[in-house]
Amino acid sequence: MRIPMIAGNWKMNTTSAEAVALVKEMRPELDQIDNVDKVICPPFVSLAAVKELLKGSSIKLGAQNLYFEEKGAYTGEISPLMLAELCQLVIIGHSERRQYFNETVETADKKVKAALKAGLKPILCVGETLKENEAGKTEEVLTRQLSSPSARSYYLSGLTLAYEPIWAIGTGRAASGEQANQTIGFIRRHITRQCGREIAQSVRILYGGSVTAANIAEFINQPEIDGALVGGASLKANEFLSIVKQTSSFKRGK
Ligand code: 13P
Repeated sequence: MRIPMIAGNWKMNTTSAEAVALVKEMRPELDQIDNVDKVICPPFVSLAAVKELLKGSSIKLGAQNLYFEEKGAYTGEISPLMLAELCQLVIIGHSERRQYFNETVETADKKVKAALKAGLKPILCVGETLKENEAGKTEEVLTRQLSSPSARSYYLSGLTLAYEPIWAIGTGRAASGEQANQTIGFIRRHITRQCGREIAQSVRILYGGSVTAANIAEFINQPEIDGALVGGASLKANEFLSIVKQTSSFKRGK
């Protein structure tokens, strides 16, 4: 039985003061909701303050990126060891990192390895561009992004995947529930071929891309989809709470 996860990726939004205010607003209600792993991923600079606020809470804290070396002369970077003091999870390979910061399948793989070594649980993002989608290359792209020779050990260590079609991110043009379910089903079959059925059935795979309180039901209701990685809507307390609540009640009914 896979426990659903709703993770809020705040991206480069909120000052520390704003992050603290948003967490104070959401925490009391979020803490009441069970059957869902609730994760928030504020910017690096707010992690320490938010960690303090989340003492005794069931809300988990994640970062949005990391560097794969433990320490050294890498000006401006943040290491897995630094993050392990502050949070439990880390988003890796987000399409915005691949698009604007030249991250590749190889760097994402190094980051996953480094995160797990430090005891952080990665949320690895994969997904195709609009061009690749229209050219019928979605499965080829996903296969390449999920080709790590260490995949088996990653899944066994609790890596979560997030399928985020790039054309659906921040565009208001979400994939349909069926579309997302179909592609996530492909990912699960790929993992079955790679690592066997038992592992494939245990891996949590989220959908991400223009998820809101108005459309979450469409995704969470699908058998292959284990939750969502939410961008814009995770910055609004009421939206995020509603997404988490709906997920909790849907999965309970399954
Ligand atoms: P939006 O929900 O804003 O489309 O962003 C999705 C995303 O990139 C989450 O990581």
